[in-house]
Amino acid sequence: MKNITIIGSGTMGNGIAHTFAQFGYQVNLVDVNIDALGRAITTITKNLERQIAKGTLTEDAKNLTLANITTFTDLQTGVENADLIVEAATENINLKLKIFKDLDQFAKPDAILASNTSSISITQIASVTNRGDKVIGMHFMNPVPVMKLVEVIRGYATSDETTNSVMELSKKLAKSPVEVNDYPGFVANRILMPMINEAIYTLYEGVAGVSEIDTVMKLGMAHPMGPLQLADFIGLDVCLAILNVLNQGFGNPKYAPCPLLVNMVMAGKKGVKSGEGFYDYTNGIKEAIVAPKFASNH
Ligand SMILES: NC(=O)c1ccc[n+]([C@@H]2O[C@H](COP(=O)([O-])OP(=O)(O)OC[C@H]3O[C@@H](n4cnc5c(N)ncnc54)[C@H](O)[C@@H]3O)[C@@H](O)[C@H]2O)c1
Repeated sequence: MKNITIIGSGTMGNGIAHTFAQFGYQVNLVDVNIDALGRAITTITKNLERQIAKGTLTEDAKNLTLANITTFTDLQTGVENADLIVEAATENINLKLKIFKDLDQFAKPDAILASNTSSISITQIASVTNRGDKVIGMHFMNPVPVMKLVEVIRGYATSDETTNSVMELSKKLAKSPVEVNDYPGFVANRILMPMINEAIYTLYEGVAGVSEIDTVMKLGMAHPMGPLQLADFIGLDVCLAILNVLNQGFGNPKYAPCPLLVNMVMAGKKGVKSGEGFYDYTNGIKEAIVAPKFASNH
């Protein structure tokens, strides 16, 4: 595999493009939004410069990485020579089904179609294509150039050949791929999201405040970041969407999102991306006033 196309140039798409390009692959980065493509190149450049400052990358390697990336707004042109396509567009089922229908039509017949979805069924995505054996989940973690894990998700019809290719390719990116089956939340989010939801319930029920909950998990469990801060980084809207997928997919109320999370998302408090969630990010980072107000919020 040599030519890789990434669909979507947001948080994840730019990190995935950066990683493939750094390892010498020719990357086509496609987004419907031309401004998003511009922002992606700026972000990749900044992140490469950070690697240079840390002494893990040379100036030449930075220039080669950037030269390996070409941007496109037209899907058909962007995918026609791809050996592998990694879709990292907005987490919306109808949008992804439309993209995969188009990919099936425009991509080479032997191209592998992967999705970076956090929660949408790979089997359902594969069902709108005529190459279910070549459709797979390739779930990178944020920030992609730094995080080692790739959760490789086998849909119901994904072949051994496709799975092996994606596992081997992930290793060539210096990642550690882990193969899992396609059930709601896969492994990462099936375990992470109930923990985050329980942390929100702990706050909602007044057991402890935001920083107390995060401190318990950081110092007591050696987590690098508390679950409430992590939820802010992921996006509270994204956490809610994944919990809804788990709740509906398993039909088990243990996954039902905490009403406080639902309220915060409805109030536009989505975490870092909106400037406020469990913490306020508008001027540095400080604990936000989360309603209902508990002693530690005052
Ligand atoms: N953010 C995370 O921490 C994280 C982690 C793992 C997986 N994911 C998954 O990665 C995917 C992308 O998430 P993100 O956080 O990068 O989102 P994002 O909102 O930052 O970026 C999505 C990009 O997709 C583009 N887009 C929308 N429709 C498109 C189309 N039809 N064709 C091409 N581009 C299109 C948008 O313009 C936008 O630039 C989602 O499926 C998400 O669940 C996110």
